[in-house]
Amino acid sequence: MLLSVFKTDGDAGTEPLKERGDLIGENQQPNIKTREEACRWAVMRVRALIADERDWVVNTANAAAAIFESWKEVSWAGFYLMKQGELVLGPFQGKPACRRIQVGKGVCGTAVSERRTQIVPDVHQFPGHIACDGGSNSEIVVPMMRDGEVIGVIDLDSYSFNRFDEREGQALEQIAQMLAQDCDWNL
Ligand code: SME
Repeated sequence: MLLSVFKTDGDAGTEPLKERGDLIGENQQPNIKTREEACRWAVMRVRALIADERDWVVNTANAAAAIFESWKEVSWAGFYLMKQGELVLGPFQGKPACRRIQVGKGVCGTAVSERRTQIVPDVHQFPGHIACDGGSNSEIVVPMMRDGEVIGVIDLDSYSFNRFDEREGQALEQIAQMLAQDCDWNL
C-alpha cells in the first residue's frame, strides 16, 4: 500500500495525503534503494507530519527526526532559527551542538548572509567552518525564507565526504518552504 504512494511520479510535496497515517507511523519505511527515493520519502514524510499542525517547535522537531531517520550517513540534522539577529539552536537529532551562530559565520551563517543553499563536500576546505563535531566531513545548509526574510536554516552534517548534492538540496528546499509557510513562527 505504501509503495503505491511512494512510487508515484508526481511532485511529492503536493500529493494528496491518502496514506498519512502510514507516513507518520513508525517502522513503515518503504524499501528505498536510491538517493532520489530517499529524498522524495523525506519530503513526503515531513509533509504528512506537519499537516494540521502549525506550532513551529512541533513541526521542526518532527522534521529533524524524519530527515535524520530517512537518510543514510547523516550524523546531525536540525534547525537554527533567527532570533534577534543571530542563529540560535533549535530542534535537532544528533550530538549536542553550537548554541549560537553569527550571520556570515560558518556554513550556517553564510547560508543566511548569501540567502542560498550551501553544499559543502569537504568542510575542512570551507573558510570559517564551525566544527560542532570534529568527525563531520561534509555539510548542507538550506535557508528558510518567509516574506523575503531568512527565518532560520536547516543544517545536516555527515561523517562522509561529499554526502550531499543537488538532490538533497532540492528536497531540503521543499521542506524549508513547507515549514516556512505552514508554521506560526513566534521567534
Ligand atoms: N558546521 C556548522 C555549525 C553547526 S553544526 O554543524 C551543527 C557551521 O559551520 O555553521
